[in-house]
Amino acid sequence: MGVEICVEGLTKSFGHQVIWQDVSLTLPAGEISVLLGPSGTGKSVFLKTLVGLLKPDRGSIWIDGKDVTRLREHDLYEVRKLFGVLFQDGALFGSMDLYDNIAFPLREHTRKSEREIRQIVLEKMDMVGLLGAEGKLPGEISGGMRKRAGLARALVLDPEIILFDEPDSGLDPVRVAYLNQLIVDLNAQIDATFLIVTHDIASARLVPDNIGLLFRRELVMFGPREELLSSGEPVVGQFLNGRMQGPIGMAEEKDAAQVEQELAELDAGNHRGPKGGKGASGAGVTPRLLPSEGIVRPPRWEEIAEYEEKMQRLRDLRAASKGAVGVDGPGVTGI
Ligand SMILES: Nc1ncnc2c1ncn2[C@@H]1O[C@H](COP(=O)(O)OP(=O)(O)O)[C@@H](O)[C@H]1O
Ligand SMILES: [Mg+2]
Repeated sequence: MGVEICVEGLTKSFGHQVIWQDVSLTLPAGEISVLLGPSGTGKSVFLKTLVGLLKPDRGSIWIDGKDVTRLREHDLYEVRKLFGVLFQDGALFGSMDLYDNIAFPLREHTRKSEREIRQIVLEKMDMVGLLGAEGKLPGEISGGMRKRAGLARALVLDPEIILFDEPDSGLDPVRVAYLNQLIVDLNAQIDATFLIVTHDIASARLVPDNIGLLFRRELVMFGPREELLSSGEPVVGQFLNGRMQGPIGMAEEKDAAQVEQELAELDAGNHRGPKGGKGASGAGVTPRLLPSEGIVRPPRWEEIAEYEEKMQRLRDLRAASKGAVGVDGPGVTGI
């Protein structure tokens, strides 16, 4: 069922620069969580800390009954085997073809025969839709294919936890849509806990069970997707709705006076987003992306699908009654 990760009071700084402090959250086993945050807020640092590549100043990371922050090198090596990581650029070896890139962890970390390796590599390449591209070099394929190859490589050791560092960065919207669907499909197919860090709001609205937001060195919120998407918290609302008004500025931070003024405007109800949308609470909870047709849904996904169907019926009902009465009632998406 994947494993749970429990982070308690985690703080990380480099020299005098505090990156984030007192971060506490639990990534539930088998679920998809997204950690959102503007660029430079330390999302990649957070992932590196989870896998023990960076040591935090304070706090604990509990995985499988062990505190990763206090493990010796040998035990850390064992815990790292639980992780598959998709790095931002796929982090493929440029001189190796996709087959060898994906086979690499198996050759490094297992004693499997080349026959067994071949079977695993082709299975994972099939999962990410790359069968037939075994002989391609990373430089010969698109950014989207490189991400999928990186994902196949992250899967070969059958990880319990998969970390995605900005899987959507550098991809066009269509490729992002395919990748999001692939992530959801994979979650339904393999029992692993997923953590995706990104600054892409659209993906964060569609894909996860849980959302967290890093801002100004703090984890502002972490909780179920629906809770965050309907939150009245200004930072969360601004970020999830892509508004310019609010505490987040171009250079990440605005001066206090400007924030005060904008918050006052928000309170006064003057909070139309770029699409003329409502404030955070009215912007609505978008329907969740479900696994593709043909993928056998485990019970967890059956429940999610049933819930989404129910919500859709409610939205349809609201739309129908709004049409019948002919008034502009509350936003249909606001359910
Ligand atoms: N190894 C390091 N040494 C010193 N500073 C670092 C190191 N890694 C990251 N940083 C700093 O930490 C901050 C957060 O970086 P990062 O995690 O890459 O942000 P994000 O992934 O959210 O865009 C940046 O200011 C960066 O310069
Ligand atoms: Mg980063």
